[in-house]
Amino acid sequence: MTSTAPETATPDPLDLEAVDALEFWVGNALQAAHFYRSAWGFDIVAYAGPETGVRDKASYVLEQGKLRIVVTSSLREGTEISRHVARHGDGVRDIALRVADAAAAFDEAIRRGAVPQTPLYEEKDDHGVIRRASIAVYGETVHSFVERRDYEGVYAPGYEARSSVPDPLPAVGLLGFDHSVANVELNRMNMWVDFYEKVLGFSLIQGFTDEDISTEYSALMSKVVSDGDGRIKFPINEPAPGKKKSQVDEYLDFYNGPGLQHVAINTDDIVASVEALTVRGIEFMRVPDTYYEDLRDRFSDLDLDIDRLKKYGILADRDDEGYLLQIFSRMNQDRPTVFFELIERHGSRGFGNGNFKALFIALEREQERRGNL
Ligand code: FE2
Repeated sequence: MTSTAPETATPDPLDLEAVDALEFWVGNALQAAHFYRSAWGFDIVAYAGPETGVRDKASYVLEQGKLRIVVTSSLREGTEISRHVARHGDGVRDIALRVADAAAAFDEAIRRGAVPQTPLYEEKDDHGVIRRASIAVYGETVHSFVERRDYEGVYAPGYEARSSVPDPLPAVGLLGFDHSVANVELNRMNMWVDFYEKVLGFSLIQGFTDEDISTEYSALMSKVVSDGDGRIKFPINEPAPGKKKSQVDEYLDFYNGPGLQHVAINTDDIVASVEALTVRGIEFMRVPDTYYEDLRDRFSDLDLDIDRLKKYGILADRDDEGYLLQIFSRMNQDRPTVFFELIERHGSRGFGNGNFKALFIALEREQERRGNL
């Protein structure tokens, strides 16, 4: 690790509250919603489409704990959504941020140098009004600013409430967004760190170089920016030269440019979450068994059940502040682009950098199976 800044209160120029939702643009929202519901344990809470007066797309809103994701697909060819899906495959279009005042957040972001994507607009129905505007970030990804203070309906105008049929499988227990990771092109990481510092008022909280994160074959660089409260954390990766193609290169190749790579989700019982997800058919990355021998040494003074972690393939890391448990899923779609991480924190505010090497060896094994190493 090259830098760890103390967590200090920074001004919050856009008055950001939290991640409001991640919106995926996908080829088939009906099937994607079923996957996130059945396999990941989300509830489908709202729907918009032709039946609700939306003519050209279908969207499903899914929630679990404080997490909200939206999956949207186009019903027509030649739309912005269908072009996006053809280019990127299923992926995250919008990391929407909830704000107190969308007009003020958007104006301030533009004043600080953001590129506008969609100027302020209002969506209204009998339940009130939602105000939204968005700015462009890396690749074709956007941040919407969403103001909900005058709205009491389900998600947004144009949506109708849906309730999932009762789910007979064990609950997954996902709680909220921990961090969302961007993959950007070589030599663009620092530019995006500057962007988040200048435009959103974020601070750099951690940085890793290719000396920290490298294997025999591939390497990457990573820096983490955070809002002042530490509620919104965006690590940003770029590839570093290695003997072979790194996982970030593979992502950039298959996503056709930068975009969101993984979303880390908090759980307070990672073993129970992994158990429930395994029953539901989700598979996880596995590190070699030798990893757990090292772990026994690194955690010899803590009462951690290493055999239990090994059984489920869960990783552990520690720093001065505490420790964390984490695990990474296999890809959420056919392209090697977007996946999820589960994280159970016990004091540590890190990202598991002690695991990066073991993890990358596991990732490279998967890459090799795809013929992309
Ligand atoms: Fe992560």
